[in-house]
Amino acid sequence: MVTVTDLRRKAGEERITMLTAYDAPTASVIDEAGVDVVLVGDSMGNAVMGYDSTIPVTMEDVLSRAGAVARAVDDALVVADLPFGSYGQSLEQGVENATRLLKEAGVDAVKIESGPHTVDLTERLANTGIPVMAHLGLTPQHVNQLGGYGRQGTTQETAERILDLATAHEDAGAFSLVLEHVPANVAADVTDAIDIPTIGIGAGPDTDGQVLVITDVLGLSEWSPPFAEQFGDVRAEMESAVDDYREAVESGEFPAEEHTHVEEGVELRYAPA
Ligand code: KIV
Ligand code: NA
Repeated sequence: MVTVTDLRRKAGEERITMLTAYDAPTASVIDEAGVDVVLVGDSMGNAVMGYDSTIPVTMEDVLSRAGAVARAVDDALVVADLPFGSYGQSLEQGVENATRLLKEAGVDAVKIESGPHTVDLTERLANTGIPVMAHLGLTPQHVNQLGGYGRQGTTQETAERILDLATAHEDAGAFSLVLEHVPANVAADVTDAIDIPTIGIGAGPDTDGQVLVITDVLGLSEWSPPFAEQFGDVRAEMESAVDDYREAVESGEFPAEEHTHVEEGVELRYAPA
């Protein structure tokens, strides 16, 4: 069982690995491979729900998919995102929804796209016993505010702002920090400045760990960001399996005798009356 204290111990000694998952079979593959953290990211909006941003993803979406992931994972730490609209209204709203992710879905921790407005929430959750992973740099829930998914922290002023917010969230009790799409030297400086583990995506090699979106890694995404890397071609595998199935049904090859034969003496539990 990977715990938040294990991650803190690992930081700086061994690299931390994290991948997203949105369903049980994928989560179980990731878990059995020995990946440290499984993130039920709101990237599910783009990755598997057919949306073109994370904005439409709801608490019910995350609860349903986080439940599937948490039930399938034995060893990894399971973290779920608080989606857009689930914590911005008030401290109470954020506490209530984070609590639901632990109580109803069974995750171990929550991730929150961080800013000046999430310092109090992070502190309240940490004090309540809900571990918080902070997230700075590119925060995709701000796409309408940012006007796109560009790199963040590219000026002295914005880089310092990221560093200040990283420190503020560490002080508030966050157990780790995701740094997304920031210059490598900014990620390295933040990693040096704080004690909690940093996990990078499009943030260079010097964070304590790395995270990618699973559909990008598997080669299942329609589009991947330039900082992602495809480690497989699952889309091609799926295409070939589906083609073979269609051809086998159309040709009458499937179902064959072995799929049809019922052994004598086998009782059909739901036999029609
Ligand atoms: O939703 C997500 O997958 C994320 C990671 C990219 C960090 O937030
Ligand atoms: Na996310």
